[in-house]
Amino acid sequence: MTQLRFELLNTSGRGRRGRIFTAHGTVETPTFMPVGTAATVKAMTVDAVKATGAQIVLGNTYHLMLRPTAERIARLGGLHKFMNWEGPILTDSGGYQVMSLTALRKMSEDGVTFRSHLDGSAHTLTPERSTEIQNLLDATITMAFDECTPYPATHEVAQKSMELSMRWAERSRKAFVARPGYGQFGIVQGSVYPDLRARSMDALIPMDFEGYAVGGLAVGEGQAIMFSVLDATTPRLPTDKPRYLMGVGKPSDLVGAVQRGIDMFDCVLPTRSGRTAQAFTRRGTVNIRNARHQDDPRPLDPDCACPACSNYSRAYLHHLARSGEILGAMLLTWHNIHYYQELMAGMRKAIEEDRLDAFAAEFHREQAAGDL
Ligand code: GUN
Ligand code: ZN
Repeated sequence: MTQLRFELLNTSGRGRRGRIFTAHGTVETPTFMPVGTAATVKAMTVDAVKATGAQIVLGNTYHLMLRPTAERIARLGGLHKFMNWEGPILTDSGGYQVMSLTALRKMSEDGVTFRSHLDGSAHTLTPERSTEIQNLLDATITMAFDECTPYPATHEVAQKSMELSMRWAERSRKAFVARPGYGQFGIVQGSVYPDLRARSMDALIPMDFEGYAVGGLAVGEGQAIMFSVLDATTPRLPTDKPRYLMGVGKPSDLVGAVQRGIDMFDCVLPTRSGRTAQAFTRRGTVNIRNARHQDDPRPLDPDCACPACSNYSRAYLHHLARSGEILGAMLLTWHNIHYYQELMAGMRKAIEEDRLDAFAAEFHREQAAGDL
């Protein structure tokens, strides 16, 4: 086996049905990756994550380098063994988390120095060190080190930021240790400017990454602008490599982005919302803390096969949430990830049958109908 391989199976409009072959197993695309920031998908065992249908999870360079450290995870046999997840793991490269989680930081051509949000200790991330950490973690998919351009940004600021990310991508690529069934993705930046997105792709594509991510989105621009950036981006990406939209998103974001040719997603929304009593369903979002659920014997979603919906009433889930019980977070997280995986499976099937637009129309109709 050479580096990880992508096979395009079917298309429906611009939507793509594919398969990623990796050293740690196969991923059916389009796919959603639950976020396992600190070597755990919060409130879920790995058996539970697997039972939802998830095939790949995300880990974070930033969190793991601080605690328990990449070197310790390497000594203990790598991240798969450490967290008992045998499947593929994609790790983000750290720059995005440094910018969102640390107060004191300094950017330079070389990289970024910052103080830990845990204990204030000083650290440096460069393209070389980020790539080395991801190698120590044994990430199946390594991300290039980049700067997520803040939003809004002027054309001039966005250009400088994108060009820095492209120089960092080149250094990340050189630092990557190729192994069979492993790969590294480059990250397209350029904010909301089509000309900058094009120049970013012109820089990245000759580096011949195993996949391409679209970064710098879901940063406050809104869905319409995000979709317009995808319209200017995915048609120029190689068709024989996977495309990953970073940090996205709501269910309607996933549907619209798949219709625009995206293959992979990650987002904290289903897991974080599960811990704040918000459930995603076919009929829109439900806040289970709402008093209207307190005497409701019906399941959250009668058509959902997850444990929360199969075994418990809305009244019970409401009670758990109101009581701050750990089981409430566990069950709603399970439901939300299950819902996201069912949505992805539905889109994969719709692409196979060349009816993705009809699927999307039905999705929007059901969401608009409101909770049962
Ligand atoms: N997560 C969400 N957006 C981004 C981005 O632009 N870059 C990286 N590395 N991670 C992200
Ligand atoms: Zn459910």
